[in-house]
Amino acid sequence: LIITIDGPSGAGKGTVCRRIANNLGYSLLDSGAMYRLTALDCIQKQVDLSDEHAVVNIAKNLDIFFEALTETTVIRLSGYDVSHAIREENVGMAASVIAAYPDVRTQLLQQQRDFAQSKGLPKGLVADGRDMGTVVFPAAHVKIFLTASAQERARRRVLQLESSGAQHIDHAVILKDIQDRDERDMSRATAPLKPAVDAYLLDSTSLSIDEVCKVIMDRIALVNA
Ligand code: C5P
Repeated sequence: LIITIDGPSGAGKGTVCRRIANNLGYSLLDSGAMYRLTALDCIQKQVDLSDEHAVVNIAKNLDIFFEALTETTVIRLSGYDVSHAIREENVGMAASVIAAYPDVRTQLLQQQRDFAQSKGLPKGLVADGRDMGTVVFPAAHVKIFLTASAQERARRRVLQLESSGAQHIDHAVILKDIQDRDERDMSRATAPLKPAVDAYLLDSTSLSIDEVCKVIMDRIALVNA
């Protein structure tokens, strides 16, 4: 069974996908991490993000490794643990820039499908991203488009940053980053962020994580019935 959960940054996909995958004993594909790893590799190697050819080359030669643990996934780039580094705000912004290059997407699309194959899909896969239901796994059995208002997503991001020790966070700056990233993700020509025609739209603005997971688990149960 393949379950795709797409949606904009900060809608809660990461937490929800992990919970659902753990509940069902499914593998988890964090496609955003692949875009972030490409961006981080470019930053570390001082590749100009506007040089599409050079960025594609980086995507093609990524040396990455995902080690799934229950609560987290250890992510390595060229052997180094970059699980935290890829979550930095500047890496997310850079990821959304390079994600607009069609050939970068083609490279990572193949790696995403290979990931699903390599897991042998023992029971199933939960795929987290922007184009999982529209492009990467169009035949997925359950497709969810998880969203929330930009204000709420910014509020959640501020809380997350504060809980990881950051100080003096400006809500307005975070909101602007989220709006810029939405704009870039939705307006790109290749695989823009949008719900698949057969996706279930779920607005989490006033829902808890538990409530979101319950709605999704109920939908999976319907397909399994
Ligand atoms: O989901 P996450 O915030 O980690 O993704 C980082 C960036 O990677 C997104 O802002 C988006 O531009 C890009 N992305 C994408 N397609 C995906 C997953 C992520 O374009 N399937």
